[in-house]
Amino acid sequence: MEAKYKKTVSEDTATLTIRGKSYELPIYGGSTGPDVIDIRTLYRDTDMFTFDPGFTSTASCESAITYIDGGKGELLYRGYPIEQLAEKSDFLEVAYLLLNGELPTVEQDKKFKHDITYHTMVHEQLVRFFTGFRRDAHPMAIMCGVVGAMSAFYHDSTDINDPEQRRVASNRLIAKIPTIAAMTYKYSIGQPFVYPRNDLNYAENFLYMTFGVPKCEDYKVSHTLADAMDKIFILHADHEQNASTSTVRLAGSSGANPFACIAAGIASLWGPAHGGANEACLNMLSEIGSVDRIPEFIDRAKDKNDPFRLMGFGHRVYKNFDPRAKVLQQSANEVLAELGINDPLLDVAKELERIALEDPYFIEKKLYPNVDFYSGIILKAMGFPTSMFTVLFALARTVGWISQWGEMIEDPTQKIGRPRQLFIGEKQRDYIDIKNR
Ligand code: SDX
Repeated sequence: MEAKYKKTVSEDTATLTIRGKSYELPIYGGSTGPDVIDIRTLYRDTDMFTFDPGFTSTASCESAITYIDGGKGELLYRGYPIEQLAEKSDFLEVAYLLLNGELPTVEQDKKFKHDITYHTMVHEQLVRFFTGFRRDAHPMAIMCGVVGAMSAFYHDSTDINDPEQRRVASNRLIAKIPTIAAMTYKYSIGQPFVYPRNDLNYAENFLYMTFGVPKCEDYKVSHTLADAMDKIFILHADHEQNASTSTVRLAGSSGANPFACIAAGIASLWGPAHGGANEACLNMLSEIGSVDRIPEFIDRAKDKNDPFRLMGFGHRVYKNFDPRAKVLQQSANEVLAELGINDPLLDVAKELERIALEDPYFIEKKLYPNVDFYSGIILKAMGFPTSMFTVLFALARTVGWISQWGEMIEDPTQKIGRPRQLFIGEKQRDYIDIKNR
């Protein structure tokens, strides 16, 4: 898809002076957000690298998919504010938007939803991969394995240079990831897998495959829960060049097939500093247990000698607030009220947020609740074990990952990603025979 905007070359340049010699580097502007300095000729001209571990000041690509303004707490999917999409759209419509750049027409929406619905079943032999895992395997371990194994089943959509095969692979991943996610839950509790139903929408079908029990009794999908699930999927769908998306892009830059790239993204998301924070946050709230123990944990979070951090707090980009956290806090109130659940952990979370946001440490370091702070409370109320929280994050983020992957493949300037280093190891030295060591 042709991007509507192109980067613009600024009339002024960046001047870099190194040991008395000056270099002029081009500056590019986008449609919005920070300009960039093109340093691609730096090593050739200066025999030096830039140094940016964690990529705090590095743009890895051009993208037209998701824009975050960390200062304003803005999150836009193809220009549409996340708050509006969460309120007015549905996940598959958002998936179409992320993949194609525009909201679908009635016909496009109907066809896309039909295509996804009729690809939700997985190859029956994929089921055998589950029985190789222990029942108490972490569901994210199973997700990494089974999604990676999809490469071995869907060979007819692994030619990344064929746009039609890229489209089929994208649809297969979006369609089958809820089925696989539900299967990881069923496997962990020893219940039979539930086949998808084509008469249910995306979120309803996922809840049915997760909590339904075949033939024993009908599972009545709660529209409240399905709506909340759909909203959670929308909020987690994409987020610019975060760690797992960058992992997917880097894997894809070598020409790896899309199933293997998404499995790499799942592995990266699992970390507690990233998507694993929703599970870690609920475990933390449970460990805090009651409002009166909050000061103890605030002190630990501020103690440089204590590795403890407030899970669900802080963000590389948001230095004001995470707009997703605000939507999720409201959704937590609605879902718990609708279900008649009075979860003391919600009170602990709200009080923890209130105290932290008044504490000079958190104010100075611009630490606010992020997407993972409230999501776990809703998911727990919906009946998911904490071990499934990051699986749900991966389910939703699959459409963001595959959209970013597709954008990268279509980018004519994309090259294999291959960072360099500042070497601080041993200089060349000769081998020493073991008798002389
Ligand atoms: C996600 O990138 C994305 O877009 C990710 C994501 C997405 O949708 O893809 O938004 C999803 O991953 C959300 C983040 C989930 N992670 C957590 O909730 C884990 C807890 N948060 C932190 O680990 C941390 O805030 C990060 C990892 C989220 C951000 O880390 P940064 O940007 O590298 O910031 P930093 O570690 O340099 O912290 C800056 C300072 C440090 O203090 P100083 O060294 O300057 O003295 O703030 C402190 C940190 O110690 N700090 C915290 C803290 N987070 C940062 N102190 C206490 N508790 C915290 N949670």
